[in-house]
Amino acid sequence: MRLQNQAAIVTGSARGIGRAIAGRLAGEGAHVLIADVDGEGACRAAAQLRHDGLTAQAVPVDVTDPIRVKAMVQAAFDNFGRLDILVNNAGVGLNRPFLKTTLEEFEFTVRVNLIGAFLCSQAAAVRMAEQGAGKIISVASISGQRGAQNRSAYGASKAAVIQLTKVMALELARYGIRVNAVAPGPVVTDMTDVTHSQAIRQTYQSRIPLRRYAQCDEIAAAVAFLASDDATFITGHTLNVDGGFVSSGLIFDLDDAAGAVE
Ligand SMILES: NC(=O)c1ccc[n+]([C@@H]2O[C@H](COP(=O)([O-])OP(=O)(O)OC[C@H]3O[C@@H](n4cnc5c(N)ncnc54)[C@H](O)[C@@H]3O)[C@@H](O)[C@H]2O)c1
Repeated sequence: MRLQNQAAIVTGSARGIGRAIAGRLAGEGAHVLIADVDGEGACRAAAQLRHDGLTAQAVPVDVTDPIRVKAMVQAAFDNFGRLDILVNNAGVGLNRPFLKTTLEEFEFTVRVNLIGAFLCSQAAAVRMAEQGAGKIISVASISGQRGAQNRSAYGASKAAVIQLTKVMALELARYGIRVNAVAPGPVVTDMTDVTHSQAIRQTYQSRIPLRRYAQCDEIAAAVAFLASDDATFITGHTLNVDGGFVSSGLIFDLDDAAGAVE
């Protein structure tokens, strides 16, 4: 139980990766605020965690709305009396060729993925600084590190989240706040169910050394590690949870590779 009685906000946690992160943090002893634009889904997720004997409350929030974001942070204090952990997980995906990406699509993607992380982090960090301690973890993506096809808006938003993580880590260190990011490769979720065609799946699987998509729990485990005292000297870091995708170069079939050695 590495997070006993710590208070955490997880944005976008009504479902998918965020839901798994909320469950993992609560399972490690944290009191979790499920914050999502889908207010009913947030209530259902919190009720499920409470049913499992864990501590969770729900709050509706649009992470792009500064007033609602401040109310979300206040809700953590109202419910739990403090805020130790913020996980910026809320995000939207977009697969669109660069030449067909509209201004509205680009702005919407950046607004949710980047500006949402900025607003939540700033609102949380102000209060964490008063406490003299805190942990902020953002869910970025390998698409923020590699030039993935059809990912101009999404990739740019996630690259900016990685950069924002570095600058916040530097500026917030003096307040005892550690800031890190987790960059997943493809994960089995509702988002990839909709946005990943069969062709995209096959291509990813052929280029990931571990040859599969991640499960949500594998991303949640990395977030829990960064939030815990097992990571007290880690800040400004982006932890790839990608089955080796970003590290890999040419990948041969095993038989071909054996032939190359001979
Ligand atoms: N699924 C993947 O393969 C993958 C890979 C890399 C990174 N990511 C990132 O992980 C995060 C979660 O992805 P997911 O696959 O679980 O997505 P998802 O679509 O299944 O869930 C996203 C959640 O965020 C909420 N949300 C969306 N906009 C919001 C807003 N403005 N305010 C508050 N909540 C909002 C949704 O209601 C939903 O509950 C995202 O940041 C995504 O970019 C996902």
